Amino acid sequence: MSEILRKQFLRHVAQTSPAPQLIEVARAEGVFFYTPEGKPYYDLVSGVSVNNVGHANPVVVEAVQRQAADYMHIMVYGEMVERPQVEFARRLAEALPEPLDTVYFLNSGAEAVEGALKLAKRYTHRTEMISMRRAYHGSTHGAMSMMGQPEGEEWKCAFRPLLPDTKAIEFNSFADLEQITERTACVLCEPVQGEAGVRVPAEGYLQALRKRCDEVGALLIFDEIQVGMGRAGEMFAMKKYGVTPDIVCLAKALGGGMPLGAFISSQEIMSTLTHDPVLGHITTFGGHPVCCAAGLAAMKFLQDNKVVEDVERKGALYEELLADHPAVKEIRRSGLLLAVELGEASKLYRLIDLFIAEGILSDWFLYCDTAFRISPPLVITDAEIKDSVRIIKKCLDRL
Ligand SMILES: Cc1ncc(COP(=O)(O)O)c(C=O)c1O
Repeated sequence: MSEILRKQFLRHVAQTSPAPQLIEVARAEGVFFYTPEGKPYYDLVSGVSVNNVGHANPVVVEAVQRQAADYMHIMVYGEMVERPQVEFARRLAEALPEPLDTVYFLNSGAEAVEGALKLAKRYTHRTEMISMRRAYHGSTHGAMSMMGQPEGEEWKCAFRPLLPDTKAIEFNSFADLEQITERTACVLCEPVQGEAGVRVPAEGYLQALRKRCDEVGALLIFDEIQVGMGRAGEMFAMKKYGVTPDIVCLAKALGGGMPLGAFISSQEIMSTLTHDPVLGHITTFGGHPVCCAAGLAAMKFLQDNKVVEDVERKGALYEELLADHPAVKEIRRSGLLLAVELGEASKLYRLIDLFIAEGILSDWFLYCDTAFRISPPLVITDAEIKDSVRIIKKCLDRL
């Protein structure tokens, strides 16, 4: 990378950490991205669970180019009939369990969460909103209020006051479900907690959560922003765990690499946004036709090529190949989302540097800096899994 470009990046592109990864990207294809000097990197992050269909997937590229040439933005959300939006909404509704058949498209995950929270308050006429400890739902004020960090911890504390009438319960604690009451508008839950370091639900937990919400009339919202669109080994994680929420939030891989989010509910619940007041939720760019065309092409690609059907086996292959290394203390996994636990943050930071030198992009988790992430494009081949494990083990040997 040229020194001038590096300096301009640090000077003019807003930074949120003192240690950006600072790798210049020239192009990307499949499970790799390349620097201008031609150095390949295995992308084991996928832009944080975005690039499920692989980089520069030709069907997505073609859909983007075609739609950009036909038309881009015309009018704010919900006024015009735009074919990519309609077709994508129909395909999502067909793949989701009933009654999740009405899709509100937005630009990002945090926006999908904001919309879902507002919808739950509007539908139930209640105000209390419950989240899970160590949840991550986005960085806007509402989503941040639902981060589920204990009071006083730095992220939330620095931005107070946040939303009132929110509280957090412990994910997987059956006892804590008692805190959901007739006052509760909604419970927001990732069926698999991503940034907590891949925490899967305990046997029967999501069923018990569903039952408790039904008992007290609270809406259950699943945040499948990180684990939806095939990552967990089913198109939607709710199918894997056999629990249907009242609202589901999607984003990240939803747009096939383009910015797209959505909250999806039943027609009955969603229709409350049309009256008292009208225009209960507004977005200019949400459901942008180019993003919907990309997302539609990506979902069709996953379905036509039965990509999701192979995700569980590929995840298990990574697990099997890494489990015997002495530096690996534990592997937590759902489909092709793995947290490889080393037990020590200092080891992990050293490892990430070794990875970068050897051409592997990985990362830690927001609430877990003792484990590294493996979440490659779902199209990764067995040969690429084995080769990336060879490099990972070479780096682990040097710890
Ligand atoms: C589970 C989950 N929800 C919400 C978000 C926020 O999505 P976005 O960054 O698109 O706002 C993320 C992002 O990492 C996430 O992992």
